[in-house]
Amino acid sequence: MKKRGEKIVMLTAYDYPSARLVEEAGVPIILVGDSLGMVVLGYDSTIPVTMEEMLHHVKAVMRGTARAHVVADMPFMSYQAGPADALRNAGRLLKEGGAQSVKLEGGARVAEAVRLLVESGIPVMGHLGLTPQSVNQFGGYKVQGKTPAAAVRLLNDAMALQEAGAYAIVLESVPAQVAQAITEKLAIPTIGIGAGPHCDGQVQVFHDLLGLFSNFAPKHAKRYAEAGELIRNAVREYVEGVKEGNFPTEKESYLMDERVFNSATHLA
Ligand code: KIV
Repeated sequence: MKKRGEKIVMLTAYDYPSARLVEEAGVPIILVGDSLGMVVLGYDSTIPVTMEEMLHHVKAVMRGTARAHVVADMPFMSYQAGPADALRNAGRLLKEGGAQSVKLEGGARVAEAVRLLVESGIPVMGHLGLTPQSVNQFGGYKVQGKTPAAAVRLLNDAMALQEAGAYAIVLESVPAQVAQAITEKLAIPTIGIGAGPHCDGQVQVFHDLLGLFSNFAPKHAKRYAEAGELIRNAVREYVEGVKEGNFPTEKESYLMDERVFNSATHLA
């Protein structure tokens, strides 16, 4: 697709219904992101997400997809301790979860792990820039690669991932010009989120795209719907319907034949 100049679309999904909707809408790559820790499980970062939680959600997404390529995020501390850990846990995401590839954060530091995974038959997507698992090191969710030295470090990390065999790299929250330069220098595709329009593809978080939360709107996300408002209004209507006796009506009820009912003398 990169060679053909075709934009690559990736979106997160975390369970059976979201995976079905995303695939039906024509998304070819679904990411089961560890962002699920924040948008589905209510943690305040991705740090607490465990392998068991990732596996639980990856399996649900797999049951909701037939054609899309499913990428599973490797959670914090499932690969940082070294290549052997990375291989064991990536293997679980494919073998038990059913994902087709994994994504992990970091550049040159994880290149050895990436190489081992790829040599073992596990396709790897890299992730550079604002890598949320390093939020404590960054001191917050801040744009990365803003100085010439930091931008060159990003490029070197991207090259190291490509050289190790990664098939694509997510660039998160980096200046658009830096993302463009990296995209032009790499043979493998870049998938941007908050990295401008020149990446080979884009990825967004399902809940951001659909406006499911009213209290959080990252600058890089465009709300294509106000689904949170839609859901709240529908639930409010249901609450009122039940309280006011407008739900259920005969239409939503199961009725018994009158004669049969009347013959049950203790009920009639
Ligand atoms: O976890 C996630 O959803 C991600 C995307 C933001 C790229 O890593």
